[in-house]
Amino acid sequence: MRAACCDAKVLEQTVVEENICLMKVLWTDVAHAPHAGQFFTLRAWAHGEEPFLSRPISVHSWDADTHEVQFLYQVKGHGTEKLAKLKAGDTLQVTGPMGNGFDTAALAKEYKRILIVGGGIGTAPLYQTTKELAAAGNAPDVCFGFTDVSYETAKYKGVAKSLKVATDSGKEGVKGFVTQLYNPADYDLILLCGPTPMMKNAAAGAAAAGVKCLCSLEGKMACGIGACLGCTCKTTREQAVSICKDGPVFDAKEVW
Ligand code: FES
Repeated sequence: MRAACCDAKVLEQTVVEENICLMKVLWTDVAHAPHAGQFFTLRAWAHGEEPFLSRPISVHSWDADTHEVQFLYQVKGHGTEKLAKLKAGDTLQVTGPMGNGFDTAALAKEYKRILIVGGGIGTAPLYQTTKELAAAGNAPDVCFGFTDVSYETAKYKGVAKSLKVATDSGKEGVKGFVTQLYNPADYDLILLCGPTPMMKNAAAGAAAAGVKCLCSLEGKMACGIGACLGCTCKTTREQAVSICKDGPVFDAKEVW
């Protein structure tokens, strides 16, 4: 389905942690409802104005009843700084949804024990993923890693089967890597999103245990529709793939 583009109203904007914002936006185009793992590009400045490109931001949560889409994002650079200045009632240009995302209905059916592993701002798309799996009758276990403190994790209670947190500093949860929180052999499917070293490590653990593993990749994006080759990624496939169009979700075995 082609992405839709419209001016959307900001419902709420909150700072949830240092340099981490949660923005709620009204997305009325229900014919283009997003699902877990997809993203939109957001623009809060005129075309021709710096920065040149819109910012790709994953869907943190989508509510089909209220038409509210939530974006949890890190403020890093001019684009996200401008997004962070938006207040309730402001409008921004929203284009999407884009990308393949996680086919949660099929995954919930095919795999019995599902684990979600996220790190830092890479946890953003995993809330919608957890909600959809739970709604499909297969609530996952969730393990997250952060630097110092977690953010936006309380909402997983009652949705995820369990939630464990690790931090680099040990200020919260277990001190160490997120991969220390679980045994991959206890699962049939592992879904990943986070920093590349974390995902590589988690994917290696899954491969060693013979467990299917899907990862959601991040890339530098321009067009967001597979046209500019700006987010090309090397995989085991013969042809080059774009993270924005062919992904961002890939089988980890194809990537590492
Ligand atoms: Fe243009 Fe992905 S951003 S191909």
